[in-house]
Amino acid sequence: MKTFKKIVFWVFVSFAIIQFVPIDTTNKPVSKSENFIDVKKSPPKVAELLRNACYDCHSNETVYPKYAYIAPFSWSVKDHVNEGREHLNFSVWQSYNKELKESMLKKALQTLQNKTMPLPAYIVYHDKANLSDAERTILAQYFEEILKTKSY
Ligand code: HEC
Repeated sequence: MKTFKKIVFWVFVSFAIIQFVPIDTTNKPVSKSENFIDVKKSPPKVAELLRNACYDCHSNETVYPKYAYIAPFSWSVKDHVNEGREHLNFSVWQSYNKELKESMLKKALQTLQNKTMPLPAYIVYHDKANLSDAERTILAQYFEEILKTKSY
């Protein structure tokens, strides 16, 4: 029993200590001349779906949930945001060249169709990101249209 108490004690101490390693939650400023939704003048419904389901990890407009301030969850959240932005950042869309835009739209389409995005772990805490099939179709058709008309 003594050992058990010691373990509990040290778990608490460790938990308290790791809180001193915070994550950086500042977002870089977004320019309307580069932001996908603004540049493409996306219809309101599309813009809403993108903001609800993708923008937290794929833009510089991340809204961090409360649990994102508690280590070690915070580290995992920040990892996803960093990695998501590295792959695809809608806030800097206009800085991508044509090839990259085309490839990103194709991949985005795929992730919607095979339901790998939004990340399943994220959906658990974000009801609005739990896209219905109809909502997935709206986004997929929107991306398809841009690809077809080559108006990236
Ligand atoms: C919780 C964070 C999160 C959300 C929300 C999210 N993504 Fe991602 N996304 C990631 C991460 C992390 C990666 C990189 C690792 C991977 O591919 O799993 C990624 C990768 C991608 C890629 C690149 C795949 C590749 O092969 O390069 C595309 C495209 C993408 N996401 C589209 C979307 C779309 C579209 C949405 C909204 C419907 C979305 N994501 C929502 C975190 C997220």
